[in-house]
Amino acid sequence: MFRIAVMVSGGGTNLQAIIDAISSGKITDTEIGVVISNNADAYALTRAKNAGIPAVCVSRKEIPDRAAYNQMLIKAVDDANVDLVVLAGFLVVIPEEMIRKYRNRIINIHPSLIPSFCGTGYYGLKVHEGALARGVKVSGATVHFVDEGTDTGPIILQKAVEVKDDDTPEVLQRRIMEEAEWVLLPQAIDLIAHQKVEVVDGKVKRI
Ligand code: GRF
Repeated sequence: MFRIAVMVSGGGTNLQAIIDAISSGKITDTEIGVVISNNADAYALTRAKNAGIPAVCVSRKEIPDRAAYNQMLIKAVDDANVDLVVLAGFLVVIPEEMIRKYRNRIINIHPSLIPSFCGTGYYGLKVHEGALARGVKVSGATVHFVDEGTDTGPIILQKAVEVKDDDTPEVLQRRIMEEAEWVLLPQAIDLIAHQKVEVVDGKVKRI
């Protein structure tokens, strides 16, 4: 069985999409070993509990020392003994030590077509505010491997989503989740679980 850890901070709709894709057979031969949250109040933890998945909270608030926090985060991932770490709306910067240790074994979902509207400062609704301010006609979502930069790692999958004239950031956010994120993240996990992708010269190739 391919084992994944899912790291979350908030509502956990992407976590739910993964849980549902495993139940429905869109993702096969894969189990969620643990859900890790930095936020004790994250609804994602309730989703994990409802699905009978072990969940742990490594609270940033309770451990103000960043180095100590990083070690606890890495230990939580190590203890889960997983093949892949999935960042599904995880708002804490991943320690470089963990990125090195899990090279090409951490993926992230970002709600735009990278390299647009990504990098430092582009998270949550700010991504969609940026897209609407620029007047783009398509946005979308990207699943990528995590490297030392912010949203700079090798791109695994992207899906475009139409931007409509009267969109608000909230409306666009929801459409991108429904049409792109909840589809792409399970697809990427299934591809990786079945060794269908590899990273060559910093780019993802389908095998
Ligand atoms: C999603 O928009 C994801 O792309 C971004 O954070 C959000 C998480 O939403 N990285 P949810 O917690 O999965 O509902």
